[in-house]
Amino acid sequence: MLPLTTLSLALLSPAAVGVLAQQPKPPIKVAVSPHSHQRSPSSLATRGNGFIRAPIHAAQGAPKMLRRRQEDEGLNNENLGTTYTIDIEIGTPGQTVTLILDTGSPDLWVNPQCETSGQEKYCSSFPQFDYTKSKTIRDLEQADILSYGKGNVTIEYVTDDVVIGSAKVKSQILGIGFESHDIPLGILGLSPSVNPNNQPYPYLLDSMVDQGIISSRAFSLDLRSIDNPSGAIIFGGIDLAKFSGPLAKLPMLDPSQTPSGADRYWIVLSGVGMTYPDGEVAESDEIAIPVFLDSGGTLSRLPSTIFQAIGDSFPGSQYDPKSGFYIVDCSIASEPGSVDFIFGSNKKIRVPYGDFIWQVQSDVCVVGVLPTDDEPVFGDSFLRAAYVVYDQDNRNLHLAQAANCGEEIVEIGSGVNAVGSSLTGKCKEEAGGSGGGGGEGGLDVTTTRKPTRTASGGGPQVTNSEFGPGPAGTRVSTGGLGLPTPTGSGGGGGGGNGGNDDDDSRASGLDVGVTVAVALAGLNMLVVWLL
Ligand SMILES: *[C@@H]1O[C@H](CO)[C@@H](O)[C@H](O)[C@H]1NC(C)=O
Repeated sequence: MLPLTTLSLALLSPAAVGVLAQQPKPPIKVAVSPHSHQRSPSSLATRGNGFIRAPIHAAQGAPKMLRRRQEDEGLNNENLGTTYTIDIEIGTPGQTVTLILDTGSPDLWVNPQCETSGQEKYCSSFPQFDYTKSKTIRDLEQADILSYGKGNVTIEYVTDDVVIGSAKVKSQILGIGFESHDIPLGILGLSPSVNPNNQPYPYLLDSMVDQGIISSRAFSLDLRSIDNPSGAIIFGGIDLAKFSGPLAKLPMLDPSQTPSGADRYWIVLSGVGMTYPDGEVAESDEIAIPVFLDSGGTLSRLPSTIFQAIGDSFPGSQYDPKSGFYIVDCSIASEPGSVDFIFGSNKKIRVPYGDFIWQVQSDVCVVGVLPTDDEPVFGDSFLRAAYVVYDQDNRNLHLAQAANCGEEIVEIGSGVNAVGSSLTGKCKEEAGGSGGGGGEGGLDVTTTRKPTRTASGGGPQVTNSEFGPGPAGTRVSTGGLGLPTPTGSGGGGGGGNGGNDDDDSRASGLDVGVTVAVALAGLNMLVVWLL
């Protein structure tokens, strides 16, 4: 496959020419007017010396206010996890789109197909990017199918200007979705090129460095809890007032050291503990389990013996064989206990029960972890409690206990010490739990155990695959397919969705899949890699 960067001079596809011919010729240089900054979707965004801060939002997959309207779509749609999103502007003039912030995949793309998203009303409540209205868009005549842990999308690559926080990134490569399945929002990926054999292209982080916006490919991510609006991503910076204790430096594993050989934000988990509501602490012996950090996933997935140890240790938990979750009483979420994860020699991240528990229905709560035998992952149920600096240039992650005591952002420079080794959070470490308690009984996380209590009746209506896009899996590249028909201009709200009136999303999903397969069969399809 040709590297995408060499395609930037490719001729526009006939479809795009048709579209672009109706528009005035784009100016050679687009002046960055101060007004475009003011119109930034991120009103709280700040730009300092070489860093860009942008707020992120926690969105319930199917917000409560939408649920009533979704009754006719069946129970399945109710049980969607929390998604962390970011608003960015694309094109000239800029159009605001809301994207899932995903550290588990590298690509940036917009315009999911709502009819086959499994969450049609929710998906349609967000504006789509109408590329026919952008004066700066260019078709790269290259298409891809991106597959995620859940769902997939066929995209056409284009370049266009992107405003994130208050920074304008020029000519960023991004995908315009054609057909997609089971993904309700576009995705802003922030991982390295996942497969070493894939030809990488300049991702958003690369462009920010190339264009002098930040000094090195590093960002910090502070998800905060579901009801807290102050989560943020800082490209090229660290907010010392958003964590307590020292930032622990942990090397990103080489792909060859990981279960799948994929290059993600993998680190080693070296211990697990439980701090019970009465202050008692149990801790495992030292372990060495590779896990990666995936902000695009709602839950965490850990080896089954760890899953069992955590689930069974929750006060009053019941294993539900039907859904595969440990169910707990929702009142546990407000108890003072925590699930504790240890990294490196002695860095403990305490995840309060309230952040680790997932409220599936108004009166049903489950422990936010599932078992996996292949790629252990920490999703949002862990990340809410951690402040994480992702340093791609030096291949290190830096972790600390998340907290909130104001704002004091320092820039991440460049070089091996870009993230200082002695950075300590300005927030006070919370008393209790972490600093002692002398765990009497150990926590056995290496032996299979039977659940102490098993749920008998109908458990929660969830299956294991209903949340998050999950990490990127496969990527299939083809020649350009031409730009898709825009699905309606940015108004949001129900509007006509491309004339597809089919109420049965399953059936229409099938049709779409077949159409794509046929369309691709006619092209010289190149399978780049499969997991
Ligand atoms: C995308 O997902 C749909 C629904 O799961 C599936 O039917 C289809 O085969 C997938 N397409 C590709 C190219 O993987």
